[in-house]
Amino acid sequence: MNLKGKVAIVTGASSGIGHAVAKDLGSAGCHLIVTSRRTEKLHEFEREFPKTVVVPGDICDPDMPDLLFQAAEEKLGPVDIVFNNAGILEVAPIDKIDIDRMCRMVRVNVEAAFRLIYTAVRYFKEKGSGHLVNTSSVLGTKTRPTAGAYAGTKYAIEALSESLRMELARSDVQVSCIEPGLVLTEIHDSWETHPKDLFKIENPLTPEDIARTVRFILEQPNHVRIPKMLVLPGEHEI
Ligand SMILES: NC(=O)c1ccc[n+]([C@@H]2O[C@H](COP(=O)([O-])OP(=O)(O)OC[C@H]3O[C@@H](n4cnc5c(N)ncnc54)[C@H](OP(=O)(O)O)[C@@H]3O)[C@@H](O)[C@H]2O)c1
Repeated sequence: MNLKGKVAIVTGASSGIGHAVAKDLGSAGCHLIVTSRRTEKLHEFEREFPKTVVVPGDICDPDMPDLLFQAAEEKLGPVDIVFNNAGILEVAPIDKIDIDRMCRMVRVNVEAAFRLIYTAVRYFKEKGSGHLVNTSSVLGTKTRPTAGAYAGTKYAIEALSESLRMELARSDVQVSCIEPGLVLTEIHDSWETHPKDLFKIENPLTPEDIARTVRFILEQPNHVRIPKMLVLPGEHEI
């Protein structure tokens, strides 16, 4: 698929993977709807790619999916791509993890992601085409001590995506998951010991590595489906 002129919603676009994917899609000629709570980085996209609409806000707001699609329809046209990516990470041993922060992670990573999936897939079914890409994780396929709750949120994304793939087979609506290993982003800033040092990974992935894989998934001809893609740094032993 040629991405020029396609309309793409990107969540979590202020930082890390979402920021790199929005930049890459903008460079490929997509028109962008970008969202997150922090707006400074979102407005940079407006300057770089004039066909950009900024929708600031909390992804947990139940109205957010409709707001994103309405903004697109009013200002850019029908939506072709949704990159459902906003997420947070809480990892700690069970006697140390903060239950309220853990439940907030469930709301961001599962509830808000599910609400966007629900709206996007119904919209694409009605339109007859569209591609939803969800950011899962290598921890959507495996787990490890201290990361069970985070992995659970990503397993949830994998389960819904896989069942939708089956529901939508023979249609032109596609659902894909990317499953990155360690990517150097702000999500790891609160770790006592950075996972790079904990897992002895000198060369983690960069957000731009993930942007390239998302672009690869989106650019396939329609008969080629990539429901999931695991992307790991070379030193990842998980
Ligand atoms: N980095 C990794 O190693 C890795 C590996 C596998 C999967 N992932 C997944 O990749 C996705 C992106 O993470 P990242 O590594 O790029 O982290 P990041 O740099 O911290 O970016 C997270 C993004 O999510 C947004 N976000 C978080 N909470 C939000 C909320 N309540 N409302 C609106 N936006 C919110 C943030 O925007 P604001 O703070 O401005 O709102 C930010 O744009 C997540 O789903 C994460 O689980 C990351």
